[in-house]
Amino acid sequence: MSAALEVESLGFSFDGRRPVLRGVSFRLEPGDSLAVLGANGSGKSTLLWCILGLLKARGVVRLFGEPRTRRSLARIGVVFQNPEDQLFMPRLVEDLSLTLLNRGHPPHEAAEAALRALESAGLGHAANSPASQLSLGQRKRAAIAAALICRPELLVLDEPTAELDGRSARLLREHLKSLPVAKLIATHDLGLAREVCPRVLLLEDGAVLAEGPAAEILSDSALLERAGLI
Ligand SMILES: Nc1ncnc2c1ncn2[C@@H]1O[C@H](COP(=O)(O)OP(=O)(O)OP(=O)(O)O)[C@@H](O)[C@H]1O
Ligand SMILES: [Mg+2]
Repeated sequence: MSAALEVESLGFSFDGRRPVLRGVSFRLEPGDSLAVLGANGSGKSTLLWCILGLLKARGVVRLFGEPRTRRSLARIGVVFQNPEDQLFMPRLVEDLSLTLLNRGHPPHEAAEAALRALESAGLGHAANSPASQLSLGQRKRAAIAAALICRPELLVLDEPTAELDGRSARLLREHLKSLPVAKLIATHDLGLAREVCPRVLLLEDGAVLAEGPAAEILSDSALLERAGLI
């Protein structure tokens, strides 16, 4: 079976001089979950943006065995590190229904599904307000609900728990564990990585420092210290 995601020798520089990603390669099988861990500035978000084609990197990205296209990108749900990158409509319910409208759902169906998704994220009361009037954690929860609304086969999440309170983070971990889809999660949250991801990729200064079973890597304190995580 094709991998959900294959990344080969990805390289990227913002200014054409200092490399930010250096030869990153990995595979993510369908239904598998991989945590991308690394210190601030190690290149986690840049890696995700390059995978999504929002930054133009050298190297190869394949989604579900195909080159990256509009069609294969439509099978991915994304949560950016900054919710402002994906929630910008006058009303939150419109942010969530937009993805469904883009996929051809009728407006009334899209609006109903968006409202249901917001209610189950505990944000039903904010459906008619803009995301900018929510707290950062609430915006993050809304962005996660938006990513899940189209039942993606691959979830790409950038720091999904960073601003969440303890209960919201626990509920999210439980929710993610229960979803049988592939997940690529950039995070500093070692608890999230341990609980949700059987495998871990450690980034150091844009290069892969280690990749392997979470149980092995997350118990190697010398490695975690070198990567700036403890
Ligand atoms: N728009 C940009 N222009 C120039 N350099 C950038 C830009 N965005 C990020 N960088 C640089 O690229 C490097 C990697 O940044 P990136 O945001 O990918 O790190 P990260 O691992 O996601 O960090 P964090 O844990 O803080 O989210 C950093 O050195 C950063 O300064
Ligand atoms: Mg980041």
